[in-house]
Amino acid sequence: MIRVGINGYGTIGKRVADAVRAQPDMEVVGVAKTRPNFEAQSAVDKGFDLYAAIEERKPRFAEAGIDLAGDVEELVEASDIVVDACPSGIGADNAGMYREYDTPALLQGGEDAEVVDSSFNARSNFDTVEGDDLVRVVSCNTTGLSRLIAPLQEEYGIEKVRTTLVRRGGDPAQSDRGPINDILPNPVSLPSHHGPDVNTIFPELRIDTLGLKVPATLMHMHSVNVTLESEPSAAGVRDLLESEPRMFVIPEWLGLDGAGAIKELAQDAGRPRADIWENCIWGESISVESGSSSIRADGEVVSDLYLFQAIHQESDVVPENVDAIRAVLGEADQAESITTTDGAIGLDEPLVRR
Ligand SMILES: NC(=O)c1ccc[n+]([C@@H]2O[C@H](COP(=O)([O-])OP(=O)(O)OC[C@H]3O[C@@H](n4cnc5c(N)ncnc54)[C@H](OP(=O)(O)O)[C@@H]3O)[C@@H](O)[C@H]2O)c1
Repeated sequence: MIRVGINGYGTIGKRVADAVRAQPDMEVVGVAKTRPNFEAQSAVDKGFDLYAAIEERKPRFAEAGIDLAGDVEELVEASDIVVDACPSGIGADNAGMYREYDTPALLQGGEDAEVVDSSFNARSNFDTVEGDDLVRVVSCNTTGLSRLIAPLQEEYGIEKVRTTLVRRGGDPAQSDRGPINDILPNPVSLPSHHGPDVNTIFPELRIDTLGLKVPATLMHMHSVNVTLESEPSAAGVRDLLESEPRMFVIPEWLGLDGAGAIKELAQDAGRPRADIWENCIWGESISVESGSSSIRADGEVVSDLYLFQAIHQESDVVPENVDAIRAVLGEADQAESITTTDGAIGLDEPLVRR
């Protein structure tokens, strides 16, 4: 069994802890938090050993009547690998601790790419991270884009990607985030950081991204244009995407008209926390504009693919973290790991059965 420590038990950490526990080849050594609150109590209720992330705050746990198993350093030492799911920037601060205990660690998408040895997406570069000490599982948006880009590039070739990311203002519990009633170009300068982040997975890819923030908490929405180096039919692209793991191509008849309806479907399907681990692509949005106007001067035929996809920011990176554990430790190949991960958490059960 691979012994996994989880440092940071919030939105991402608690989901990764449950997903790791579900795997046949992994066990959770424990989880670390800085303070006793409802998430600390929930960790205890679930039977996870709880470790103190900050030594001086240990008395607070005692006052709240929550037993600790030890300090975070002990968790790191006892683990074969740590998933660091602390708030952005803290993962970088923790890097020295992981190196000191010679424990490989996975950081999350809020950390800068420069902090780590490599960046990871299971579909796109599983085989490149084995043996690395610090690996970054890229952000929810970059994960969603990478899953889409990999098969398109392999099948058709990509000349350029242009994507507008309409991003949720905050997660459902983040009452301090906004906007409350506005639409923000964010960042205002172009390109947004998302394109360069995708380049940590696809270094040669030409990609421009624009970002906005809106008063929503449910999901992100991507409006995607990919100039392909060939001229497939829309039906062909749809077949390709339907054959991919972690892709939900939404059939027209479902009547899912937005992120709210997708979340409702996930609740009805009994998904834990109404999580949607897959990219959600509206089937009828998959369009290919081609024809004579798209023949370049050099005779090369290109075409423009357009589609909308929704990304559940709280959960799409969860199976990616599980795969990254096996990839870093060299415990499975890509196909084996993805199949095992998805089977163990129920991601192989489609949201809709036909
Ligand atoms: N939420 C998303 O949509 C999303 C999506 C993809 C990637 N990410 C990335 O994932 C990472 C975590 O994000 P998140 O949304 O899960 O954050 P979060 O909900 O704020 O959870 C982070 C947890 O870490 C704990 N923490 C704070 N300081 C710590 C420390 N020094 N040591 C150990 N634990 C500490 C916090 O709890 P206590 O202080 O109460 O212990 C909190 O529960 C970030 O890099 C983020 O960019 C987030």
